[in-house]
Amino acid sequence: MTDLLLQAEGLTKSFRKGRTSRLAISDISFSIAPNTILGLVGESGSGKSTTVRCLLGLERPDSGTVTYDGHELTAGDQAAWRRFHDDIGMVFQDPYSSLNPRMTVERIICEPLVGRTAPRDLRERCVEMLELVGLSADHLGRHPRSFSGGQRQRIAIARALIARPRLLICDEPVSALDVSIQAQVLNLLKSMQETLGLTVLFIAHNLAVVRYMCDHIVVLEKGRVAEQGSREAIFEAPATDYTRSLLEAVPRTDPELERARRAARRNTLSTSRSSS
Ligand SMILES: Nc1ncnc2c1ncn2[C@@H]1O[C@H](COP(=O)(O)OP(=O)(O)OP(=O)(O)O)[C@@H](O)[C@H]1O
Ligand SMILES: [Mg+2]
Repeated sequence: MTDLLLQAEGLTKSFRKGRTSRLAISDISFSIAPNTILGLVGESGSGKSTTVRCLLGLERPDSGTVTYDGHELTAGDQAAWRRFHDDIGMVFQDPYSSLNPRMTVERIICEPLVGRTAPRDLRERCVEMLELVGLSADHLGRHPRSFSGGQRQRIAIARALIARPRLLICDEPVSALDVSIQAQVLNLLKSMQETLGLTVLFIAHNLAVVRYMCDHIVVLEKGRVAEQGSREAIFEAPATDYTRSLLEAVPRTDPELERARRAARRNTLSTSRSSS
């Protein structure tokens, strides 16, 4: 009955440092509607990875809940965690270290299905995925070293999607790539999201990337949600100085962002005028 696929409610996690403990994230709440892309942004150390690790059950939050498809995972139901993990595909930042250099492309891509799919169907599924990400059956027997960074990330995407996940988690998926090919990989992710009806959690530093990709954006600052809202709300009328400073920090090469930045500045001026 829920129209939300994944919900984080009040996630809080601290780490012990010597005799004191420090909050890494505090009271993080957001939800992802099916078939949408949610962006999690913030500076280094703002708590993006800790939030995702709590969502995935890799860290146990001090408090707060994670609910997937109407089931509260943090209540400790192992079967619900298993179903959740079966529904997830992941794409990591660095396609140079995330692909096993000793495996062929076929083994890398098929690995998530080994033991779950008849061996004779594996190659067919693999070729289908390769073609979907813009590669071909000719690449099956090759090793990662013979591919460029962008092609490796395509292989990583094929691997993440071969088990037909509902939820794709992308952790800085283009920040290790050459700027000239980032757009191609983003376009691929976007078209996969649309074609396969995926729900995506997209973690990034780069606001231009987030603006291009995401429907809803959660801005993290020092472990807290500084603000969240639709792409339009965040970029056209950022509510906090922190978000404005993130916008300011983006190199002025993107005309769309430049427009958003000017609108944000006008907005600040008119707010400060009306409040004085
Ligand atoms: N295992 C850990 N032990 C101790 N402190 C940790 C641990 N993991 C994270 N932290 C601390 O929690 C805070 C948030 O870190 P986190 O890795 O979640 O940030 P991030 O937004 O992912 O940063 P980045 O963009 O650099 O990846 C930081 O102060 C970090 O030092
Ligand atoms: Mg991180």
